[in-house]
Amino acid sequence: MARAHSNIALVKYWGKRDAALNTPAVGSISVTLDALYTDTRVTFLSGLVADEFWLAGCRNPVTRISHVLDLVRGHAASMGLPAAGLNAIVTSTNNFPTGAGLASSASGFAALAVAAAGAAGLALNGRELSILARHGSGSAARSIFGGFAEMHAGTAVDGSDAYAEELLDRGAWPLAVVVAITEHGEKSINSTVGMNESKATSPFYGAWLDSADDDLADMRAAIRDRDFARLGELSEYNCLKLHSLMLTTRPALIYWNAATVAAMHAVQALRARGVPAYFTIDAGPQVKVLCLPGDAATVQRAMALVPGVHEARISGLGPAAHRLE
Ligand code: PMV
Repeated sequence: MARAHSNIALVKYWGKRDAALNTPAVGSISVTLDALYTDTRVTFLSGLVADEFWLAGCRNPVTRISHVLDLVRGHAASMGLPAAGLNAIVTSTNNFPTGAGLASSASGFAALAVAAAGAAGLALNGRELSILARHGSGSAARSIFGGFAEMHAGTAVDGSDAYAEELLDRGAWPLAVVVAITEHGEKSINSTVGMNESKATSPFYGAWLDSADDDLADMRAAIRDRDFARLGELSEYNCLKLHSLMLTTRPALIYWNAATVAAMHAVQALRARGVPAYFTIDAGPQVKVLCLPGDAATVQRAMALVPGVHEARISGLGPAAHRLE
């Protein structure tokens, strides 16, 4: 059994370098969230005719799960371990609503990588686990680590240098994230489909690739200097740059609803009142607000008052993915 926490990118990933290896076209930097996590158990069994995936007690498709399990079986074969020839039962639960646009694929595939490697008897290091998780979902590579994590785009044709690593321990700079939920239910366009459409159609895609390294360097410096205003401003800027790319994709990727926009204005209003708070938004309508721990309750109250916000949850920064037994 393994637990992995969700993460939210401050400098975001959008676009694939290699679809089969699921390597990103740009690097990314994220914070891991302690309030949102997935617990996953993997059991390799003889006599099982196919892999099975059970999420919150319901049977789900195994395609992406089996892809990650196949890589684990490949490692196991090279070590002469019995899991090499066995199918597996995967059982998973999220401590937050699944499919509500709260990055369950990040925590889910990170938990799967750690649980499957452990169940197969493999001793993989963080870099190897992040590569394994990346094959399930690009953002999952970052959830192998706690605190602040960076995912490298890499250049190697085999994807071996497209891995994540920890930039800073969560204890070194405690921050809070208020998650404002504006909509329950599945997001309209899945991120892989959306990324491919942006790459194929947006005139801004080239600019997105060209400016990524500058944003990554600035964010690394903000984290190194513990400069919250710089981190927050850059997070908002990078988020809006991503959404400009999405909006200029054909057909347009409009992930926002009215409450998403109202929440952005509410964050600007908080700043005008002297509360340092900055928003970021992924491929969905939820708004994540970065703030200092001492301001989290104020930010939560402000978000809960925004028309259309159903719920506002406070999270601190979370730990690395780990085995529970
Ligand atoms: O890992 P995926 O395929 O779910 O894509 C993640 C895309 C964003 O959440 C929008 C950005 C990111 O870096 O997490």
